[in-house]
Amino acid sequence: MKKLALVTGAKGGIGSAITEKLVEDGYRVIATHFTGGAECAQEWFDEKKFNHDQVRLFELDVTDTEQCASRIAKLLEEEGTVDVLVNNAGITRDSVFKKMNASQWYDVINTNLNSLFNVTQPLFAAMCEKGGGRIINISSVNGQKGQFGQANYAAAKAGMMGFSKSLAAEGARAGVTVNVVAPGYTATPMVTAMRDDVLESITSQIPMKRLAKPEEIAASVAYLASDAGAYITGETLSVNGGLYMQ
Ligand code: CAA
Repeated sequence: MKKLALVTGAKGGIGSAITEKLVEDGYRVIATHFTGGAECAQEWFDEKKFNHDQVRLFELDVTDTEQCASRIAKLLEEEGTVDVLVNNAGITRDSVFKKMNASQWYDVINTNLNSLFNVTQPLFAAMCEKGGGRIINISSVNGQKGQFGQANYAAAKAGMMGFSKSLAAEGARAGVTVNVVAPGYTATPMVTAMRDDVLESITSQIPMKRLAKPEEIAASVAYLASDAGAYITGETLSVNGGLYMQ
């Protein structure tokens, strides 16, 4: 029987590469999309030529605590177990802090950080009960180093790291590992939507002088999910072309 992975924000730039890699590695993937995103998600499913043994589309509003609890409970009833959780859903609402409004702050904190509570809580309990599981949280280099115009995003992404270390301590005895992948600037619509001059200036500061490919992020996720990653927990794996070295 195939192992089951759940990837939030699965049709986004990095999420899509993660889904493809996990499918390639033999997982069945529950690919979540936001409420109202079913049509878009189906287009992505068709375009990638997935079949239903590989990918199941699943509506999940990661910002909605009650909906996550009830839909994930139902998913567990239907599927029995989830072996790997990848908390990948994320948004940006960049603005200098002086001009940042409350919705730019709360939208980012809700989607990028509070989602970790909403999605992880029902699955973590099930993984502990089963005696194993992998949780991989997709943070960002900007959660490690901070970034002009991203007080909201950097706060959420840094929060993911504290969350992951704490949960790693709680999950260790049950064989549940919890790790972070911290991508640098990656060639996805989120990054290429930035103003050209800003993106050029950032790329020039990356020692490798290029953006990451989404597959390079996906490979790290797959490694942490694999048997080879069994003894790694509470760790942050930076994949940033040298932009920030800890
Ligand atoms: N450090 C110091 N000063 C800076 C600066 C920096 N990094 N960037 C800009 N400034 C200065 C500018 O020179 C400008 O100065 P003057 O007023 O003296 O000319 C002032 O700050 C205002 O800058 P902007 O013109 O850029 O301000 P804006 O309001 O038009 O735009 C912004 C603000 C949208 C935040 C824009 O600066 C921006 O897009 N910044 C980059 C944010 C970023 O990196 N986002 C990443 C998105 S991708 C992602 O998040 C994925 C991931 O995980 C990596």
